[in-house]
Amino acid sequence: MIPRVQLSDGSEMPVIGLGIRELWNTCHRPERVVAACRSSLQNLGLDYLDLYLMHWPVAFQDGDEPFPRDADGRLLHEDADYLPAYREMEQCVRLGLARSIGLANFNSEQLARVLSVATIPPVNNQVECHPYLNQLTLAKFCAKRGVAVTCFSPLGAPSPVAGISGTPGLLGDARLRPLCAKYRKTPAQIVLRYLVQRGTYPLPKSQDKDHMIENTQIFDFDLSTGDMHDLDVFDSRMRFYPFIESKDDYNYPFGVDF
Ligand SMILES: NC(=O)c1ccc[n+]([C@@H]2O[C@H](COP(=O)([O-])OP(=O)(O)OC[C@H]3O[C@@H](n4cnc5c(N)ncnc54)[C@H](OP(=O)(O)O)[C@@H]3O)[C@@H](O)[C@H]2O)c1
Repeated sequence: MIPRVQLSDGSEMPVIGLGIRELWNTCHRPERVVAACRSSLQNLGLDYLDLYLMHWPVAFQDGDEPFPRDADGRLLHEDADYLPAYREMEQCVRLGLARSIGLANFNSEQLARVLSVATIPPVNNQVECHPYLNQLTLAKFCAKRGVAVTCFSPLGAPSPVAGISGTPGLLGDARLRPLCAKYRKTPAQIVLRYLVQRGTYPLPKSQDKDHMIENTQIFDFDLSTGDMHDLDVFDSRMRFYPFIESKDDYNYPFGVDF
């Protein structure tokens, strides 16, 4: 049966797309990885995943609780290197459970370390990426090594989850207005076009049918070189998802330049 999702206007639509799942942070112990992949397949009703990603280079304490905490509410981490877990993700490919494997939130040093031992290289690195955190250096680093960069929160995460509800946010940035008028496009379309045109792959999230359609209508125009440069200078290294609860872990990825 094809799963369905409810949209904000109350209507439903079938979920059609790639089978992508992430290895969760509590499942980094090598003996857990293949089982976690099988469990995802069972939940999705699929025989294989198109892409299996390691969500985060930092391991949380093993167990059923996705965010395990101590009595004081502190997140419990585990002293686990991500390489043994990555090797088991390679095993998922060999077993036919996943067509491709990838990473998320890995910095350049961590990615290089994975590439130095990988027998099945990661096809992508999914990172927070939008004009306020454009990841140009990491994107160039990845491109040279044949690793695609997919961008989460490409619209600047204009949702209450990121705690910026009520502020103009990226899509309300006044500097986008002249570009919207020039190209007759919405702020979201300008931002998504920018990310695509420089070779990255934005993953906008929407529950609104009109937004979903709007977000696909970005392949009928080109931003000029000058406008691309103007968008480059939006960068302020601003993270909506710094995951600071993991900042003291030795695998925390955001303590280096890129
Ligand atoms: N791998 C990771 O570590 C990680 C971390 C965080 C997030 N993610 C993933 O990244 C994806 C996106 O995350 P996100 O929600 O933070 O960011 P986002 O895609 O930048 O923003 C989503 C928000 O933008 C709105 N929106 C979408 N299209 C729009 C349009 N054309 N005009 C105006 N508003 C529009 C949506 O509202 P409507 O529904 O009303 O359209 C929604 O509130 C999610 O699937 C999330 O699971 C991954």
